[in-house]
Amino acid sequence: MTTRLEDLPLRDDLRGMTPYGAPQAALPVALNVNENTHPVPEEVADDILDAVALALREVNRYPDREFTGLREGFAQYLGHGLEAANIWAANGSNEVLQHMLQAFGGPGRRAFGFAPTYSMYPLLTRATGAEWVAGRRREDFTVDPEDAARQVADAGADVVFLCAPNNPTGTPMGLDAIRAVYDATDGVVIVDEAYQEFAPREEPSALTLLPGRERLVVSRTMSKAFAFAGARVGYLAADPAVVDALRLVRLPYHLSALTQAAATAALQHAPTMLRMVDDIVAQRDRISATLQALGYRPYESWTNFVLFGGVDDPRAVWDGLYERGVLIRDVGIPHHLRVTAGTEEETTAFLDALASVGSGA
Ligand SMILES: Cc1ncc(COP(=O)(O)O)c(C=O)c1O
Repeated sequence: MTTRLEDLPLRDDLRGMTPYGAPQAALPVALNVNENTHPVPEEVADDILDAVALALREVNRYPDREFTGLREGFAQYLGHGLEAANIWAANGSNEVLQHMLQAFGGPGRRAFGFAPTYSMYPLLTRATGAEWVAGRRREDFTVDPEDAARQVADAGADVVFLCAPNNPTGTPMGLDAIRAVYDATDGVVIVDEAYQEFAPREEPSALTLLPGRERLVVSRTMSKAFAFAGARVGYLAADPAVVDALRLVRLPYHLSALTQAAATAALQHAPTMLRMVDDIVAQRDRISATLQALGYRPYESWTNFVLFGGVDDPRAVWDGLYERGVLIRDVGIPHHLRVTAGTEEETTAFLDALASVGSGA
């Protein structure tokens, strides 16, 4: 007889939970997990290979536990007067967020976010033993600063997640809302800027709010704009005291020498790595315009994906696209679907397939 999960002496608070489970399927056009579908440019890949080859010669030794070179690289990339002491990094921003929850959340504590938001926040929160509290957004998924501050104060949370711009909706969040939320809590406030590079260039990042706010944290990732999802590299900027707190919970040597070498080499080519961002933004805007013309309701997006409503039967549309070799995401919002902006060809394939599937009515 096969053993079931329920038969194991599993932690009571993990019983009944479902793991993160975006379908992974080998379809020709995969636009379901907000990856950058453009490969790493050839000349950068060559440099990364050289750096990894060099690191491999010393892989008998543990890596630099403080990943100093990489932190300097991130500080330089982010600007805003940040230094290596302000930077933390880990295997994807998921691990960065997990470190934050291990240090500031945990049993008896509470984390808060405005739903719908990134599905890993509640999972990471519960897996590290804290309680998840979901706040509310307006009908169009925006957040009103005053209402946000009130909700955060009422929640009494130790950790507040502000996904800006928000996944899965693409919604921007103004600095006024971030300031209001910060002032309304004694907890740490994590602004997750995983998609910041796709926002309009002139729009300020929450990095501008860091000075004088020692409980504010801005997290980023190389997975999206940097086309580096497979390498697993995320990072944050914060007061050096926050970084000290994270040293208490990380595993020693959590960033492998190969990861450090690859990421450091990639960062030295930041402008080339980010070359595709403008193309992706153009495809995103093309998706929104075409969806509108097809009678759907796309939401404003500052990311590399578009959430759209007006889908009569999301399951039927998702299946119809799947049969045509196109993978998108049903994020569980009734009558909505989400699609990542791909290359021009992939985007065309999606739009053509959608036009032939119809709305699933
Ligand atoms: C809002 C947000 N934060 C964090 C992540 C995690 O990214 P990674 O762990 O690849 O850095 C994602 C991935 O989709 C995301 O959408």
